[in-house]
Amino acid sequence: MRNKIVAGNWKMNNDANQTEVFLNNLIKQSFNNNVKVMVSPSFTNLQKSVIILLDSEIEAIAQNMNESEKGAYTGEISPSMLKSVGVNRVILGHSERKAHYNENDQILNKKIKNALKNKIGIIFCFGEEINNRNSKKEFKVVESQLSNTLLNIHESDWNNIILAYEPVWAIGTGENATAKQAQEMHSFVRNWIKINYDKKISEMVPIIYGGSVKPNNALEIFSQPDVDGGLIGGASLKIDDFVEIINSF
Ligand code: PGA
Repeated sequence: MRNKIVAGNWKMNNDANQTEVFLNNLIKQSFNNNVKVMVSPSFTNLQKSVIILLDSEIEAIAQNMNESEKGAYTGEISPSMLKSVGVNRVILGHSERKAHYNENDQILNKKIKNALKNKIGIIFCFGEEINNRNSKKEFKVVESQLSNTLLNIHESDWNNIILAYEPVWAIGTGENATAKQAQEMHSFVRNWIKINYDKKISEMVPIIYGGSVKPNNALEIFSQPDVDGGLIGGASLKIDDFVEIINSF
């Protein structure tokens, strides 16, 4: 049985006070069994969040991390910095980082390896753009993203990997992938892992979906056999919506 996961991608939202209020409210909520809940406060609020969430099952994760272990990289955050404040997982490869900060597959491959080497788990995002889908190249594009970033990972490190299929055209647009489109891609990705690693790993890796997941579509998307949960942007900032999505399982 794979883990069910609902992770909030807060992006550049929630200041110190808003983070505190949100999380103090979130820990009072009751969730359906067996769903792993994660939130991703900004770097400035991570340590505080870890402390607030200490007695809960909710995990505070980071939104980014540098590809190097330390050094002259002004403004960047290293794996040991995250670990030193109790953060053990990071979102990597989000399309907004590709679009605005020039992250490419080569950099992402280094970031993935840096995280895994330092025992930081990852939620690794990938997904096609609308023109790829319109020209029926979505599988080809995703395959290339996976081949450029996820080959040569040590088999034991797959325990620390969550994959997130996030079609770029669905992020923040209100236009989600249909449950069928998500299932097709997740199944394709699982098969890619089976071919390039093995069946056991392919069956164990959680693959979550992100892109305009809302309370009214979460149940249908999450009930697909290869969809193990969601990476939630806008709706993770509203506590009632976020809790409803978590309890869609
Ligand atoms: P959205 O964002 O839910 O607002 O579409 C998803 C994401 O960016 O991970």
